[in-house]
Amino acid sequence: MADIESLLKEKRLFAPTREFAKNAYWSPRQVAESRKLAAKSPTRFWARMAKEHVSWFRPWKKVLDWKPPYAQWFVGGKLNVSYNCLDRHLEGPNAWRRNKAAIIWEGEPGDTRVITYGQLHREVCQFANVLKSLGVTKGDRVAIYLPMIPEAAVAMLACARIGATHGVVFGGFSAESLHDRIVDAGARVVVTADGGYRRGAATALKPAVDEAVADADCVEHVVVVRRTGEPTHMTVGRDHWWHERMAGASATCPPAKLDAEHPLFILYTSGTTGKPKGILHTTGGYLTHVAATTQVVFDLRDDDVYWCTADVGWVTGHSYVVYGPLACGATTLMYEGVPTHPAPDRWWSLIERWGVSVLYTAPTAIRAFVRLGEEHPKRHDLSSLRLLGSVGEPINPEAWMWYHRVIGGKRCPIVDTWWQTETGGIMISPLPSSTPTRPGSATQPFPGIDATILDETGREPKPPAGGFLAIRKPWPGMLRGIWGDKQRYEETYWSKWKNIYFPGDGAHRDERGYFWIMGRIDDVMNVSGHRIGTMEVESAIVAHEKVAEAAVVGRPDDLTGTAIVAFVTPRSGFEPDRALASSIRDEVTRHIGPIAKPADVRFTDALPKTRSGKIMRRLLRDIAAGKTEMGDTTTLEDYSVLARLRESEEP
Ligand code: WTA
Repeated sequence: MADIESLLKEKRLFAPTREFAKNAYWSPRQVAESRKLAAKSPTRFWARMAKEHVSWFRPWKKVLDWKPPYAQWFVGGKLNVSYNCLDRHLEGPNAWRRNKAAIIWEGEPGDTRVITYGQLHREVCQFANVLKSLGVTKGDRVAIYLPMIPEAAVAMLACARIGATHGVVFGGFSAESLHDRIVDAGARVVVTADGGYRRGAATALKPAVDEAVADADCVEHVVVVRRTGEPTHMTVGRDHWWHERMAGASATCPPAKLDAEHPLFILYTSGTTGKPKGILHTTGGYLTHVAATTQVVFDLRDDDVYWCTADVGWVTGHSYVVYGPLACGATTLMYEGVPTHPAPDRWWSLIERWGVSVLYTAPTAIRAFVRLGEEHPKRHDLSSLRLLGSVGEPINPEAWMWYHRVIGGKRCPIVDTWWQTETGGIMISPLPSSTPTRPGSATQPFPGIDATILDETGREPKPPAGGFLAIRKPWPGMLRGIWGDKQRYEETYWSKWKNIYFPGDGAHRDERGYFWIMGRIDDVMNVSGHRIGTMEVESAIVAHEKVAEAAVVGRPDDLTGTAIVAFVTPRSGFEPDRALASSIRDEVTRHIGPIAKPADVRFTDALPKTRSGKIMRRLLRDIAAGKTEMGDTTTLEDYSVLARLRESEEP
């Protein structure tokens, strides 16, 4: 509560400059008109967006078919996402974009590639033909496990071109996580690379794929991009080099005319159980949502150089590195490596050298840069920047102010965008020509998004007030389900209130009605903007042979937002020592990946439980955060556990 109160004391307002408003894609007047139309009829507003931002082979018959909690958007409409991202920039009034840079890519070692719309179109058609030659047809699933290289975008767009459904898996996930996702999705083909560059070294990816597909019967072929050139084992008959297959592939591949509700991708994300959920997104509604929000929220114009720093393995990489910007005909920048290689000014050097004008990144990165010191950005000319964005976690006012002052030179509007893997696109965000911003607040819902806060019973408190974030009406980019698990979809998102979407976040609204997202209220942690389920980490830890029991909670951390704390009871006879702590971390890395490694491993001979044996996570959260005042402990079975837990520490 103290955090919330201090945030809400934030009264600074930053109004859009007249200069920005004058040149904006949506002028203040258009914003007002859009809000008015959307308030009156969200479906009419979204239909307008679908006409303005998306090209259709056949128009829809019905904008929305809503049988709660299942929505179909643009029913009867036919389109192709890759056509929208490529072909339409090569013909008609936009034909001049043929030689415009679609992707500017920089590898970590400093190698670069600039791929024009014309070239990208050819590569996508060729790879679509490669997929076809491997037997992939409409509706098949293709897993993509790649570093941040242009081939990731090519593979995604090639799937979209032929109606295959892609499942991108973040390259930092372990072989086991990859295996689970491949099997759950039933992927026939895996697209990967020999490796990628991180922190100055080549990191192999292919061995993880070999391990992941060894007992995944669904996988017939693996396509391997040569990125590092390191020696790589290839299984004859199953594995194919990307460049060899591409060399023989035709660059003609007509885009499939797909149903608006055809599955575009599955993306796995953490939830409150041990098993990640395969979030399903479809074609017409998703593209409408991401194309419209990219254009309007980032105020994109043809001469912008747009850089979203997310990895394609996350939803931000799908919607705002690949699909949104390419649908808008923008130039999107991709960078392969870590922000601090070879020096802490790598990002600022990139911005200066490529003339980046729009930068979209995460608070955790901004906080890391604050720590590194302003001398690094100060060494570079960042005057090309004109708009900044933030996503993934709440941005604290200090980080916001630093971003505004040091990176934005006090002239760039900041759009703090709230959304989720499930929502497909941006839901709550300032509109840069019109919304006065307040450091730490995502401000207002995008037109056509009916967001509010509700209490447990579904009552809407009058702002200023807090509660659960809720979305009352369906929106085009919303998830269409959890792959293969209808019941979990209905229970997770639609059971709190009747026919209202529950995102799992707590929020406040201030006296202006602005939204302040307070973060997850369920057992999902947000570590550096990445969602990690406590249960996932717990199941990885208890898989360790020397562990009897474990409970995982998050604690606040200045850099990563949340840090993972594991309370572990070893099996009798095993020493709770440093070696055990480190092998527990290895276990987590093996099962999930290094992003889920606990920051603290605290050994204890008992966990706080209720008389019925439920672990009292609330108490563990307090202890992990170093609080000495505990809340209600009356249901605790053994009081002495508390004192011992407080004394527990990392050996
Ligand atoms: C959090 C990332 C505060 C939130 C696009 C949400 C945010 C989860 C913001 C989704 C923001 C995202 N302010 N919190 N601007 N953006 N979140 O699925 O808790 O990886 O539910 O999607 O991140 O994370 P996901």
